[in-house]
Amino acid sequence: MNGMSRRGFMQAGAAMGAALALGTGAAQEAPKDKPVRVGMVGVGGRGTYLTKTLLEIPGVVLPAVCDINKEHAARAGKMIADASGKAPELYTNGERDWERLVAREDLDAVVTATPWEWHTPVMVAAMKAGKYGGTEVPAALTIDECWELVRTSEQTGMPCMMLENVCYFENALAILRMVREGVFGELIHAEAGYQHDGRFVFINDAGELLWRGQHAIKTNGNVYPTHPIGPVAQWMNINRGDRFTRIVSMAAKSRGMKSYAAKKFGADHPLAKQDYAMGDLNTSLIETENGCTVTLYLDLFTPRPYDLIFRLQGTKGIVMGAWDKIYLEDVSPKDTWEPFKPYMDKYMHPLWKDHNAGAITGGHGGGDYITVFEFVKAVRNKTQPPQDVYDAATWSAIVPLSVESIAAHGAPREFPDFTGGKWKTTPPLEIRGA
Ligand SMILES: NC(=O)c1ccc[n+]([C@@H]2O[C@H](COP(=O)([O-])OP(=O)(O)OC[C@H]3O[C@@H](n4cnc5c(N)ncnc54)[C@H](O)[C@@H]3O)[C@@H](O)[C@H]2O)c1
Repeated sequence: MNGMSRRGFMQAGAAMGAALALGTGAAQEAPKDKPVRVGMVGVGGRGTYLTKTLLEIPGVVLPAVCDINKEHAARAGKMIADASGKAPELYTNGERDWERLVAREDLDAVVTATPWEWHTPVMVAAMKAGKYGGTEVPAALTIDECWELVRTSEQTGMPCMMLENVCYFENALAILRMVREGVFGELIHAEAGYQHDGRFVFINDAGELLWRGQHAIKTNGNVYPTHPIGPVAQWMNINRGDRFTRIVSMAAKSRGMKSYAAKKFGADHPLAKQDYAMGDLNTSLIETENGCTVTLYLDLFTPRPYDLIFRLQGTKGIVMGAWDKIYLEDVSPKDTWEPFKPYMDKYMHPLWKDHNAGAITGGHGGGDYITVFEFVKAVRNKTQPPQDVYDAATWSAIVPLSVESIAAHGAPREFPDFTGGKWKTTPPLEIRGA
C-alpha cells in the first residue's frame, strides 16, 4: 500500500479529513526534501506536457510511465531520463497495463492523460491502491462513473483531483479574488464556454478519425464542459455553500465535421460521408440552489478564434473576461465599459503573484504550472487538493446530463448531490499563496 502501513494510511486519511474541514492550507507541511513519486498513464500530447511540467517542480520523481503506444512511452522515458538521470520503467503491454503501474509500491500518486474513457478506471484503481489520483478532464463520462470516483475516494480516504487548469488562469483567479472581496456583490449569473475550433483534434491531417472523433460520431452533448465550468463553479462556491441543481441542454445541427473532412480530403472521403451525432454548438443552462444561473457553451466545430467568454454578473457589476471589459456600479463611468486589465492587476491572485506565473511560458503558461504544483503540494502534504473529488464528479456530470437532456428534447435533468449534503457546510476555497 504505497509504502505506507495500514495505520499510517488511515491516519493520513483522517488528517486529510481534518485539512478539508479547515480549508486546504491547514495541514502540516511535510519535509520539503521528501520526493513526491508520480506514475504517468497516457503520454500523448497532454501527458507529455504534464510530464515536462512535473519535472520542473522540485522534488518530483517519475519512476513509471504507461502508454499503449511504445513510441510515446519511450519519448516520455527519455525526457525523464534526460532531466533526472534515471530512466522510468515503461508499461506498454496493452490497454490495461496501467493496472501493473498503479500496483507499484513506490508511487505516491498516479496522473492520467489518456482518452476520456480511461480516466475513471485508472483513478479508481489508483485510489484503491492507496495513491493520490490526478486526472485530465473530464474525470468521468457517466453518472455511474462520477459516483464511483466519489465513493472510492470516500471509502479509501484517497483524494482525486481533476487537473482543471483553467481555474488557475490569471483572469479566472483574479475574478475569484474579486468575488471573495465582494466587488461584484451577490452573484446572479455567469456565462462561459469552451469555444475553440478543435476540428483538427477530431480528424488528423492524414484524414484519420481520432479518438475524440469516435465520440463525435456517437455522442451529442457537452463532452468538454470542465474548462469553462471549473472557474464558474469556484466563483459561485459550488459544493461549498451552493450547488448545481438542474441543467437544460440543446444542440445545434451537425455540419462542421463533415464540411471539414470534405474541404480537406474531398467530398468522397469516408469522413465527409460519415454522419456525426454531435451538434456543432451545444448550449446548456444550469441553475443553482441559491438562485444563480449559468449559460454554458461548447463550440468545437465552427471556424472561430478561441474564447472562454467568462461573463460574471452580480448585484454590483459585471465582468466580460474574454473581452477585457468590466462595469462596476458607482465605480465605472455611467453606462461605460472600462478595461478589465487594470482590475486584473489590482486583484492579482496571490497564487499567480507568488509563482510569478506571468513569466511562465509554454502551453497555457502559468496556469498549467500552478495546477500541477497544487496537486503535488497536496500529495506532499497529504491534504485534500483544492479541486476535490466532488468537484471532479459535479463538473464532469455535465457530460451525461447534457446528453440526456438533448435526447429528451431539452427536458431538465437534476444534478445528483455528490457531496451528500456536505455542500452546505464545506467552506469556500481559501484565497491563499503558494
Ligand atoms: N487540460 C488541458 O488543457 C488539456 C489539453 C489537451 C488535452 N487534455 C486532456 O488530456 C487527455 C489526453 O488528450 P491528448 O490530446 O493528449 O490525447 P492524445 O491522443 O495525444 O494522447 C492520449 C495518449 O493516451 C494513450 N493511451 C490511450 N489508451 C491508453 C491506455 N488504455 N493506457 C495507456 N495509455 C493509453 C495514447 O496512446 C496516447 O499516447 C484527454 O483527456 C484530454 O481531454 C487536456
